[in-house]
Amino acid sequence: MLLGVNVDHVATVREARRCGYPDPLIAAELAVRGGADGITVHLREDRRHIQDSDLHILRKKIKVELNLEMAATPEMISIALRERPDMVTLVPEKRQELTTEGGLDLIKSVSKIQRAIDEIQGAGIPVSLFINPSKKDVALSMKMCAVMVEIHTGRYADAKGEKRLVELKRVREAVREGLESGLLVNAGHGLNRVNVRQVAAIKGIRALYIGHGIISDSLYMGIEEAVREMKKLLPDS
Ligand code: PXP
Repeated sequence: MLLGVNVDHVATVREARRCGYPDPLIAAELAVRGGADGITVHLREDRRHIQDSDLHILRKKIKVELNLEMAATPEMISIALRERPDMVTLVPEKRQELTTEGGLDLIKSVSKIQRAIDEIQGAGIPVSLFINPSKKDVALSMKMCAVMVEIHTGRYADAKGEKRLVELKRVREAVREGLESGLLVNAGHGLNRVNVRQVAAIKGIRALYIGHGIISDSLYMGIEEAVREMKKLLPDS
């Protein structure tokens, strides 16, 4: 199973002072040294952490898979087409949210999302849709011809006790549904060294995308080690 490491939070610390450090590129290089198979950045419309220049330099320097998370807006589509990340993950974006709070609304935003898929995949860049763990959303993703989905694990991560098992079952079923439909299936959000095992045990997941848990661990153990420890919990790819 592949591990994509999200380095947004490194830029969050930098933007807290606007002083040029810490540098997401250095963090990304250390993550790769620790075994990251990919690097993810979310270029938000409000540029609260990652900046356009970060994406540009990461694109030039990072040799592992670069995953650009973005909203399906004309501005972001043109940035994706210019920078050509290895893949794009379309996410919903609200200005007031602390982080991406739910999967895409594939009904309400259908035309925006379809346009983004068509333009980006038309340019040869695979698109993944960040969706809630539901059969309906898997089926819609398939219908929209995205090649990949990322199943939102946030509700699983937040739930306690019995509810967590219910949420895990939802994730598992959505993964199965996606694989049966012929999609590549990823998962992520809210995962850390404590809760990742049960998701990592689901067969067929291509990659997990993890940010906050790894960057938090890295405060104590350094990013290279934090990535190495996370990788140990994932089955070999
Ligand atoms: N996947 C997607 C689509 C996300 O938007 C995020 C958060 O940026 C993540 C994964 C990583 O979530 P976390 O930081 O909770 O690990």
